[in-house]
Amino acid sequence: MDDIKLDYTNMMASVVGEYGIHEDELEALRPQSEEIHHYLMTRRENGFLPFYELPFNTKILEEISTLVEEIGGRYENVVVLGIGGSALGTIALAQALCPLYHNLMDSGQRGGRPRLFVLDNVDPMGFSQALDILDPARTLYLVISKSGSTVETMCQFLIARERMEKALGAGYREHFILITDPISGPLRRLAESEGFRSFSIPERVGGRFSVFTAVGLLPLALVGVNVQALLQGAIAMSERVTEPDIMKNPAYLNAALQFLAYRKGLKISVMMPYSDRLRDMSDWFRQIWAESLGKKNGLTGDLLHIGPTPVKALGTTDQHSQVQLYVEGPFDKSVTFLIPENYGADLIIPAYPPAPSLSYLEGKSMADLIRSEQQATEVALTKNGRPNCTISIPEVTPETLGALVYMFEVQTIFAGGLFKVNPLDQPGVEEGKEFTYALMGRPGFEKKKDEFERWYNDIRRRSL
Ligand code: PA5
Repeated sequence: MDDIKLDYTNMMASVVGEYGIHEDELEALRPQSEEIHHYLMTRRENGFLPFYELPFNTKILEEISTLVEEIGGRYENVVVLGIGGSALGTIALAQALCPLYHNLMDSGQRGGRPRLFVLDNVDPMGFSQALDILDPARTLYLVISKSGSTVETMCQFLIARERMEKALGAGYREHFILITDPISGPLRRLAESEGFRSFSIPERVGGRFSVFTAVGLLPLALVGVNVQALLQGAIAMSERVTEPDIMKNPAYLNAALQFLAYRKGLKISVMMPYSDRLRDMSDWFRQIWAESLGKKNGLTGDLLHIGPTPVKALGTTDQHSQVQLYVEGPFDKSVTFLIPENYGADLIIPAYPPAPSLSYLEGKSMADLIRSEQQATEVALTKNGRPNCTISIPEVTPETLGALVYMFEVQTIFAGGLFKVNPLDQPGVEEGKEFTYALMGRPGFEKKKDEFERWYNDIRRRSL
């Protein structure tokens, strides 16, 4: 049992009023939910939804632990070159499961494990400053791209590769591992022709559903995360999220709540962890929710222009930035709090007699404070008619995070059925990618270049 709890009390109309959800609305979703469930299970059985099976793959665990044993202590730095689904899961889980200041610790404090850098942008200043602090001889690059051709990752790879070859000579190849499609794409071809070590991302596993493949498991294992426990957590969750009854399945129920909220005009879903360690889960969730559900066309080709807008916030920090808007602004959002019941550490607030106005804090703990602030925000939202729910985990561990990620993956796939869109494609991203290729002179994109000109240079530009 994974012990993750979804408290949806404050999503209900009986508590928050007009923008809340009625029991009978949930009830009315049952037939459609059953259909979606059966559709998903059939697709799964036929091998079209392999993300479901990833936590059960013991072979990848063996391969990774062999590699970590072989090379783990050799490097001071592991650098992920990747973007989107090739980066965000690793960022979120490393933030949650490594010590918060892992990279600032010395090697002894890190147990000899490397520091982790996930470089997921092509800002020349950011990238060059990162390369400048990395000793080539002590650095391992993981080049991660399902397609093996994403322009940002390829650009990073070409620059890092040249630097490493200049610094290390022919042996530089040992400092690169490519993680990509098993058969096709430029990275796969390079792995074969140039002899780079490589891992495969299983077929039909898209970037944002790939954290339980080598994409996430390898970098996380290298920096000391117990990836076996992570997968066990996902397995523990797997039974709950394959339960057909929407009222017994937290992934289906949360998808249904978000869908019903969307239909009432609450088109923004805010995820607000009250935990530094869970902070980047919002970024990972933002991608899977937005890229999977934000679509122009529905499953039958009909024009929908649909999709919830995920927004990230952090408690308590954003109480002093966003919560004013959430409590009093337009009725266009629901809030999901993400909380650990146990913070794993605590600090008692000491007395300080010269400050009598602060004496109410004496003897209380910092965990009491952050918990009180979350509950206070929850009640403030509720009192003001703002639907919100709370997902709690007992504490931040590989098991609970594995369970949470798996739950959100199933929630997203199921939400695809409710919104009637294909949650596995991203045609809107492809358009921008193609214009970029055209601008960068990639052969085959000449027509796209003409189209770009029409939309950019051939119109009268206005600026000040
Ligand atoms: O979820 C997705 O499919 C995307 O966000 C991809 O992860 C992202 O575009 C990077 O693609 P690739 O892994 O092919 O480099």
